[in-house]
Amino acid sequence: MRTPRPNRLLKPAQWRVFTCDKRFRVLVAGRRFGKTELALCELLRASFDSRGAVAWYVAPSYRQAKRIAWSRLKNLVRSDSALTISETDLSIQFHGGGSIALRGADNVDSLRGNGLDFVVLDEFASMNPQVWSEVLRPALADRHGRALFIGTPQGHNHLYDRFEFAQNHDDWSAFKFTTLDGGNVPKKELISAASELDPRLYRQEFEASFESTALGRAYYAFNRDIHVRPLSYSPASRLIWSLDFNVNPMCSVIAQRSGDTVNVIDELVIEDANTWMACQQFWRRVQPYRQYGGLPVDIYGDASGHQRRTSGTDTDWNLIRQFFLQLRGEAVAHIKALKSNPGVRDRINIVNSRLLNAAGETRLFIDPRCKELISDLERVCWSTDSLGQPTSDLDKSDRTRTHASDALGYYLAQAFPFTGKIGPQPERLF
Ligand SMILES: Nc1ncnc2c1ncn2[C@@H]1O[C@H](COP(=O)(O)OP(=O)(O)O)[C@@H](O)[C@H]1O
Ligand SMILES: [Mg+2]
Repeated sequence: MRTPRPNRLLKPAQWRVFTCDKRFRVLVAGRRFGKTELALCELLRASFDSRGAVAWYVAPSYRQAKRIAWSRLKNLVRSDSALTISETDLSIQFHGGGSIALRGADNVDSLRGNGLDFVVLDEFASMNPQVWSEVLRPALADRHGRALFIGTPQGHNHLYDRFEFAQNHDDWSAFKFTTLDGGNVPKKELISAASELDPRLYRQEFEASFESTALGRAYYAFNRDIHVRPLSYSPASRLIWSLDFNVNPMCSVIAQRSGDTVNVIDELVIEDANTWMACQQFWRRVQPYRQYGGLPVDIYGDASGHQRRTSGTDTDWNLIRQFFLQLRGEAVAHIKALKSNPGVRDRINIVNSRLLNAAGETRLFIDPRCKELISDLERVCWSTDSLGQPTSDLDKSDRTRTHASDALGYYLAQAFPFTGKIGPQPERLF
């Protein structure tokens, strides 16, 4: 029997973790450090360590385990050494008796059973932490199995606790590396990521820093002294109108873009409104900006307006289309509505990175008359669950909050999506 070998060498930082002989290891590292790659090499080693060795790869969900690791694992396994590859069980049984199986922490029943020799918990920050204490840790007991926790920080959550714990206990060791330390991402890619992400998110994702991004204020990069300043309409650029379709209040923002900078020049906040009323009010508000040949307007907003009917007769986006059609050339409107909305956290990250990116640039300004928008940026918070942990939703307990900032976020997320190859992975749970 020959041990299957990874088809490439581990990088020095990966090697340091690989050669550590502590029973429990915690690796905290930036995106694309090479964490999953290391995990796969560890699984191969463990499954050949002893006869009948059982090694598991656990991701936050079964779907993630399959998407992140399955084809990569199969590529690493040399065909002559694998005895059976089960696509239904996501497992590989080797000639030597050892096996590797992929599992999801979302299906606790699939994790039951004894006699594990090695387990990797990948993306541990996004995982239900009880699967470790209640299911996986006991399963390691009878064979004195080993465990490797891997993750990129997500605030001070259970990955942080595990990392701290590992530093203070004998059987444990803790490692922390930046993305650059991994040697898989060139520096110029990181510089490009820094210009897209706000500084805290950049430090979290690429420097493996435990930041308090997950808690508290959603728009933490907002600072009234920096971002609020009197702005005026510029005939040189198009008007941007972006809407949230909440009924009471119905909020929208009026902005203009100059190069890379967005200026929010006004907001509309209408109590108990429908979309038609919002259009009428918008049109009244922009009368001073009218110009010969029709006022150019780009319209953005909540994609759910394709289905929703705030007025009861037609969808929100159809109403907007009809409203601007009947203006007959007085406005040249382009409706830019997307089919679906970006994730809440992505949208808010994009707003924060326009407020301040890791390169120190501010690319979003707001006129002081946008009172609701400014209140939102100062006050909107993440909601927390019964244990005080942040959820993936905003706190909506105050019915007046979130709508103006949502309206702005829809536009920014569409106009300035994260493009870098190494941006945050869309699979993140939030
Ligand atoms: N030792 C290595 N040698 C060559 N390429 C590697 C190595 N480790 C990782 N990579 C590559 O770097 C990229 C990021 O690795 P991955 O393990 O997915 O990172 P992470 O899980 O930390 O986000 C992948 O394309 C992977 O194939
Ligand atoms: Mg990974």
